[in-house]
Order: sequence, then structure tokens, then C-alpha cells
Amino acid sequence: MTGADAPDYTAFAAHYDEWFGPAATTDDTVEALAGLLKTAGPGPALELGIGTGRIALPLAARGVEIHGIDASPAMVGQLRAKPGGQDIPVTLGNFSTAGPDAPDGTDTHYALVYVVNGTFAELPTQEAQVDCFANAARRLRAGGLFVLDAHLPEALTSSASSGGRVVPAEGGQLVLRYRETDRAAQHYRSHYVVFANRSTGGVDMHRTTVSFRYAAPGELDLMARMAGLRLRERWGNWKGAPFTSSSTGHISVYERPAREGNADE
Ligand SMILES: C[S@@+](CC[C@H](N)C(=O)[O-])C[C@H]1O[C@@H](n2cnc3c(N)ncnc32)[C@H](O)[C@@H]1O
Repeated sequence: MTGADAPDYTAFAAHYDEWFGPAATTDDTVEALAGLLKTAGPGPALELGIGTGRIALPLAARGVEIHGIDASPAMVGQLRAKPGGQDIPVTLGNFSTAGPDAPDGTDTHYALVYVVNGTFAELPTQEAQVDCFANAARRLRAGGLFVLDAHLPEALTSSASSGGRVVPAEGGQLVLRYRETDRAAQHYRSHYVVFANRSTGGVDMHRTTVSFRYAAPGELDLMARMAGLRLRERWGNWKGAPFTSSSTGHISVYERPAREGNADE
């Protein structure tokens, strides 16, 4: 898989934060990642799919040294245009295999590698997802953490989740989401139609589709194990709520063990 295979965010990069980054989730995500970083020990953080810097910029403002990787020049352009956005080193490429080189020429120096807002599921195949775990693990120093969020398949394929829904967006805009799932392929596609207010009155309409491959926690844990990582914690949301049978998604925190080859300890 190359960067050219990654989803194309060009058409809505300029509106991503308004349409897909509700402020409450942003604050909770930043708070949780900052807390995890304290437990992971010293070292920089790496965001896979850094996008507009919705999460990376507030983390950097807390003094976290942060790097990113993203396949979309349009999304990174949005990051660059924000205050502080020029200061974050970003590699353009596919995060399932690529990443920034460390100053010492090795790639094992990150305390935290994370991929959020459903971005891991944008990797379209099991192979690309397995590669992503291996890529993240290789960049973590011993004791470092790999964190991702994901929906639960049961929640995605339930009748309540399928079909049409209105998703809240900032600025009084209306986002209609229609989700189609293909259970045999473990794929779903979310079609978005956005009605944006024009300053001159009236509305503009935009349409986009994003495809995902979903995986159950057990499959993700196996990918982690293949990469030499082990599950440290699993939460039901970014506020750290317990993961229970009524959870619709999860935050999974994987750890690279202090000694090599001890993912089961
Ligand atoms: C849903 S956005 C999330 C952006 C940011 N992480 C956030 O939470 O606001 C997904 C981002 O990941 C990038 N992306 C998706 N798949 C990618 C891949 N395989 N390699 C590199 N970037 C990818 C997209 O270009 C986009 O910027």
C-alpha cells in the first residue's frame, strides 16, 4: 500500500475540524493522551494520520514533542496554516509502513504512537492493519505505548447504527451520514452530505464517502501480539470509562514490553 492508496481528504480538508472534530471529544482525547504519555516515560509522541493537527497542536501546547505522518498534503496544509503548525515535523506518506527517522538513525525512540478518530480503520485490508501494528511497534522504545480507538463490529452492524443519521457539527451546520456495512468483507462505507451555511445566506451542499475495514478487539489484540505488543488497558471512551458489554467502541492501549520477546508476560 502506498500513500496514493490512502483515502483522499482533499475535498473537505478545509472543513474537517468543523465537520468531524467535535470539541468535547477533542478535549477528552488530548487529556487522555497527555495522561498516558506521563506513564510511558520520556520520549516524543508520533501521531499516525495527524491531519489538521486537531489533537497534535493542543498536545504540543502542553509541551509534548510531537511528530506526525499523513498521506494528505491538503490536511497537512491545514495544520501548517494554524499557529504552531509549522513547528511540528510531518512526514508525508502511508502510516502502515512509513514514518519519520529518529535523529540517531534508529526508529525506536517514541514513548507514544497513536492513531485516533477511527483513522486506523481507514486502512483497507487486514494486511495493511497488521503492517501498521508492526510499524508502530518498531518505532516505540521499550515501555512505550501504541494507542488506537475503534468501533465495535456489533455496534457498527446493529440496525441502530446502519442507515441514515444526523451527526452534530459546529457552526450550526448539518451533517447527514448514511452508513453501509458489508459484514462478509468486514467493511463499511460512510457517506456524508454536509449542508453548510453561506455567509451571504442559503446553503452549500458537499458530499463525500469514506471507507473503513473494521476489526473486533480480539483481532486487534492478535495483530498487537504479532508485533510484540501486549494489551495494557482498554476503555469504553476517551474519558476512561470502563469497557463493558454495553460499550459501542473502545480505546485500546498496547505496550511494548521492557524486555524483547515478552509480549505475554
Ligand atoms: C479522520 S482523519 C483524522 C485526523 C486527526 N488524526 C484527527 O483526529 O483529527 C484521518 C487522517 O488520516 C490520514 N490517513 C488516512 N489513511 C492514511 C494512511 N494510510 N497513511 C497516511 N495517512 C492516512 C488522512 O489523510 C487524514 O488526514
